[in-house]
Amino acid sequence: MINQKHITDPFELKKLPKLHPYRLVWTAYSRLLDSYGKVTQIPISSQLKSFVPEHVFKNSGSFLPETAVTSNQLELLKIAIATTEYLSEPLAEIGSYRGATTQKLAQETKRLIYAVDPYIGYGGWESDLDAFKEKVEFLPNVNHLRMTSGMAFKQLQNKSLSMVFIDAVHDFSNTWFDFCSWSSLVVPGGLIAMHDVDYFPGTNLAFRKIIAQTNKYSLWGYCPNIAIVKKLDVND
Ligand SMILES: C[S@@+](CC[C@H](N)C(=O)[O-])C[C@H]1O[C@@H](n2cnc3c(N)ncnc32)[C@H](O)[C@@H]1O
Repeated sequence: MINQKHITDPFELKKLPKLHPYRLVWTAYSRLLDSYGKVTQIPISSQLKSFVPEHVFKNSGSFLPETAVTSNQLELLKIAIATTEYLSEPLAEIGSYRGATTQKLAQETKRLIYAVDPYIGYGGWESDLDAFKEKVEFLPNVNHLRMTSGMAFKQLQNKSLSMVFIDAVHDFSNTWFDFCSWSSLVVPGGLIAMHDVDYFPGTNLAFRKIIAQTNKYSLWGYCPNIAIVKKLDVND
């Protein structure tokens, strides 16, 4: 069983001096894992015979403005929201960028959505924050936490969630940290969606490790470059 407490938050590690031995060794190992991800990278679609998800889109559909999430990927996320509608717990989106996905997801449910994004330059800047604010200002169920995934997790660690959408930094270490942290808050039957599972080697490796844990998660939905797992009840 994975113990979230033993997984390093890559952003917390940045507080150590660059030449600190722990940071140096950890960074080298982290890069090695990304390289391993690259040489072993396979599309998640190649796993569908073994894992048989309930919802599959064969192609990703068309591009949408201000997001890398495509039309069919968004449809899959909407089905996931509808499926978890019987649960009352909030949702969380890790990585919100210009708010395109946050807005679409929040319009599908009355549940609260925590939108976690620090806008500190790792893919999201102050100008992206302005676009985000414009998209969500009329949505009462969006709660923006302007902080990193790790900081937000510390703030919410006693809460339960019905669904999480992880789409922040796409190397192995960040994806793995985000998954292990946020999935620990998801109730049994809840869903965890992850973007970029096919195109980014680190995220691809992390997702292959996740679906291998068949006692804890089942592959619930897939559309090229996005996949969703269901958290199983320990008694399932
Ligand atoms: C790929 S974009 C998110 C895209 C968004 N879901 C969409 O489709 O429009 C990645 C976002 O992750 C944010 N980010 C970077 N580091 C982060 C961290 N440690 N925790 C949470 N979000 C982070 C960036 O600011 C950026 O806006």
